[in-house]
Amino acid sequence: MLIEPHGGKLVDRIVTGKERAEWLSKADDLSKIELSREMLTETENIATGLYSPLEGFMLEADYKSVVEEMYLKNGLPWTIPIVLDVTTEKAAQLAVGEDVALTDQTGQVYAILHLADKYTYDKEKEAELVYQTTETEHPGVAKLYQNGDVLLGGKISLLRRVGHEQFNQYRLDPKDARELIEEKGWNRVVGFQTRNPIHRAHEYIQKCALEICDGLLLTPLVGKTKSSDVPVEYRIESYEVVMDKIYPQNRTVLTVFPAAMRYAGPREAVFHALCRKNYGCTHFIVGRDHAGVGDYYGTYDSQEIFKEFKWCGDLGIEPLCFDYAFYCKKCTSMATSKTCPHDEKYHVSLSGTRVRGLLRNGKRPPEELTRPEVAEVLIQGMAR
Ligand code: ADX
Repeated sequence: MLIEPHGGKLVDRIVTGKERAEWLSKADDLSKIELSREMLTETENIATGLYSPLEGFMLEADYKSVVEEMYLKNGLPWTIPIVLDVTTEKAAQLAVGEDVALTDQTGQVYAILHLADKYTYDKEKEAELVYQTTETEHPGVAKLYQNGDVLLGGKISLLRRVGHEQFNQYRLDPKDARELIEEKGWNRVVGFQTRNPIHRAHEYIQKCALEICDGLLLTPLVGKTKSSDVPVEYRIESYEVVMDKIYPQNRTVLTVFPAAMRYAGPREAVFHALCRKNYGCTHFIVGRDHAGVGDYYGTYDSQEIFKEFKWCGDLGIEPLCFDYAFYCKKCTSMATSKTCPHDEKYHVSLSGTRVRGLLRNGKRPPEELTRPEVAEVLIQGMAR
């Protein structure tokens, strides 16, 4: 039995056939907003139901409720604002009640926004409540402060898919992922989020989770990340290598997660979980400092936040929480402080920053932490 999408119904705002043709012919006469690729993808994510129950960009009441309470007005948990920002000048040209064409930078129409709300918002408050900091060194906060000063809300109708150049073989809409899970007959399905190449700690927690689930949905994020993160093509290549050699192919699916990173730590962990629920996952892995950046969040804050939603009661997806995983020379295996009795001097672990530093200098991280075939891909990638 497949888990229900968040809100009970998978949103589908993709318009086809006659209705699509009608909108396209009307679009010339509509007001237009030019969107970045990132925002077009965000529009597509709403339309495919990845952000179910959202059917469009948030209205003010939902925006405020999400920022302040972590719930939508209808009582469903939601932790990250999904909004369309414009400049004050642009907003002044648009009237609530209008249908607005959303275009790319060449003027090609991708979607219609049925404009239902137009509102100013308090960026500092959002930063404080969603990111827990107003410092602009935080990449999520920096982005928020650069956004336009007015938000537009309303349902969207998607007329054209965003043509992605990369990873098309790994792109499954929530509907497709759900069909696949049903086909495979999996009941307990665990989702995994990452913005990094795979390392042994990832592998360890994924495989521990797979021991108690029927299937594993590996969903590396391919939306925008900060420039110091490893480029997406090498991250995906690292997954291709392990999928080929190290994972049970009949119990693992690799499908990319098209959203951008917010680096909102705990709030984003819940958002990541809800999106995986929409893909059909019943469980979601949350390890150390999930979706964190710098020292903004405590190591296990992203696990603690789930307790605020009565665990899976309100959310409908269960977090599988893992302690910091490392290699222990005495255990001669990966372990965590929950399973390893040995002194820290036997533990091998490296921060992502250290690993990236080694790779950039053409050096392999220790085998206990990065599989040699993965290190090879990353070293070659970094040298390209
Ligand atoms: S994230 O920003 O996408 O969360 P990352 O790719 O580092 O970053 O992590 C993916 C998932 O693996 C997250 O749930 C994170 O908490 C978990 N994780 C990463 N490294 C470890 C580790 N050494 N021990 C336990 N969990 C980890």
